[in-house]
Amino acid sequence: MRIIEAVDYEDLSRKAAGIIASQITLKPASVLGLATGSSPVGLYRCLVEWYKNGDLDFSRVSSVNLDEYKGLSGDNDQSYRYFMNSHLFDHVNIDKARTFVPNGLEPDSSRECARYDQVLADAGQVDIQLLGMGHNGHIGFNEPEDFFEKGTHCVDLAPSTIEANKRFFQKEEDVPRQAYTMGIGSIMQAAQVLVVVSGAEKAEILAEAFAGPVTPRVPASVLQLHQNVVLVADQAALGKLKERMEAGK
Ligand code: F6R
Repeated sequence: MRIIEAVDYEDLSRKAAGIIASQITLKPASVLGLATGSSPVGLYRCLVEWYKNGDLDFSRVSSVNLDEYKGLSGDNDQSYRYFMNSHLFDHVNIDKARTFVPNGLEPDSSRECARYDQVLADAGQVDIQLLGMGHNGHIGFNEPEDFFEKGTHCVDLAPSTIEANKRFFQKEEDVPRQAYTMGIGSIMQAAQVLVVVSGAEKAEILAEAFAGPVTPRVPASVLQLHQNVVLVADQAALGKLKERMEAGK
């Protein structure tokens, strides 16, 4: 794993956006694996800015998103489809027909999971998978579990995830209780994984994920088994991981 230390969130966003921008420049028909949440907002802002400056071309890019709340339509301003449109897709020349997000409105979970796995198979290998990390170590909505789920599945969101995400909703009861998420097996197939983590409140779980045992109880720990992971984190988030790595030397 390569660790890139950023001074703060702005620096982290520029550095991580730079990695995605190089991917698109080197391979214009890249398949991007994308994430939502607060962690990638700044990097999407950079990508939009660089596109507007004429430095990036998304016309041949396609994308697959990690997850979507079950029960929300793409028009709902809390849905992850809406997030992607408003933070990135509406502002760059990507062909929206080649941007994929699970369909939160499909009530039949097995049907939607099978459909999304087919979408992933048809998209081909993800060149770079962007990930944030939850306070409980989740990636996508793969919550702490007894085993790693391979493919797309419907999850019951952990109480800590509902708590963390309620800030985006008017009240806690409005946070959907379930979501569709890409599985760990699919995430691990990406050629490269780019993890962005910011803030002291993630320092402990970041250290556990990358310096602790590989366990489905800390889903991000599975990334220790991936051969091409780049972690871009700010100093506040990296503090504990650096201590653990230095102590382990
Ligand atoms: C979002 C996603 C989640 C978030 C994670 C961190 O698509 O898959 O795993 O990356 O919950 O969220 P933030 O960045 O809001 O702290």
